[in-house]
Amino acid sequence: MMSKVMSISHITLYVSNAKQTAINYCFQYGFRPFRYRGLESGDRLQSSHAVINNNVILVFVSPLIHCEDNDHISGHIARHGDAVKDIAFNVNSLDELVPQLRHKSGQDVKQWCESDNNGSVKFSKLLAFGDITHTLIERNDYPKDLFLPGWQSSPLQTVLKNSIWSQLEPIDLRFIDHVAVNQPVGQMSSLVNWYENVLGFQRFWSVDDTIIGTQLSGLRTIFMTNENENIKIPVVEPGPGAKRSQIQEFLDYNYGPGVQHIALYTSDICVTVAKLKLRGVEFLSTPDIYYERLTERLKCDDVVKHEICKLQELRILVDFDENGYLLQIFTKPVDDRPTLFFEIIERHNYNGFGAGNIKALFEAIEAQQILRGNL
Ligand SMILES: [Fe+2]
Repeated sequence: MMSKVMSISHITLYVSNAKQTAINYCFQYGFRPFRYRGLESGDRLQSSHAVINNNVILVFVSPLIHCEDNDHISGHIARHGDAVKDIAFNVNSLDELVPQLRHKSGQDVKQWCESDNNGSVKFSKLLAFGDITHTLIERNDYPKDLFLPGWQSSPLQTVLKNSIWSQLEPIDLRFIDHVAVNQPVGQMSSLVNWYENVLGFQRFWSVDDTIIGTQLSGLRTIFMTNENENIKIPVVEPGPGAKRSQIQEFLDYNYGPGVQHIALYTSDICVTVAKLKLRGVEFLSTPDIYYERLTERLKCDDVVKHEICKLQELRILVDFDENGYLLQIFTKPVDDRPTLFFEIIERHNYNGFGAGNIKALFEAIEAQQILRGNL
């Protein structure tokens, strides 16, 4: 059996207050408290809270003490703010994969095993770009509902169960559809090559391919995917726009490359977005003119089955071709820094990422950049 990168396991963020962040993601985004590591589980250095919604697992890590072993975390938070540190992948055979990774990445890739009473899991880790790493996990004999060795059930489960949180309607977020990463000007290709050569990813065919390598409202992008096509990573760099593109703004506030947005798949975007708004999630607005143009564009096409007025009410974007369409909307950045944000996406026989929406999205983001005095 060929060694493969199979799927996304979870995404880890380094944050200044893991507990509070976990509670916030439960209240705002409809996650549930999942697993925990910290003083009570014998971890003296860091506290880690994992939250879950269907197949989406986010892990928040904070330092417990100020010491040399935690400098990489506090340094990361100082540079990037609360930000993604690691995208963990499930793999089928680390023993086979690690020698290849060492050879192809030129890194001293370590492999180790962690175990507890429930079983054991093999790990490896490599540096992808900037400060972002990929943890590789082979979990052949560890129960999925227990996450990973050394974790215990989250103390937040009881706290939230006894709070108003338990009365909130669930939010249907199914899986991580894609993770978009921003690169400095001229460095998109080298990262694309890295994903091809080191992890065996390939360029993903999508309708968006028509804009690859061209300048459209200030960005260039290439979509990478693993062999199963269930991990999708659009790699983005600023285009040579006249003004400061949103990609450059991200790079400036993130102090280098990083994860720009995490797209979460939902099966009913209208319901999900309405519920998220009620929970206080802020979304980018889209001008009315977008929907007027959309109605024109759709006149001779009956591919989009959603009512445009409903989408306009919620400011949901539509991209389509003759076979299918996608619906998407972007949150405002989750930090005060204009860095990480989320996308909510619903697909109907359409594999693109919304390239047709990039211009509309840029117009919306640029309006906010002007408010921040950064354009
Ligand atoms: Fe996206």
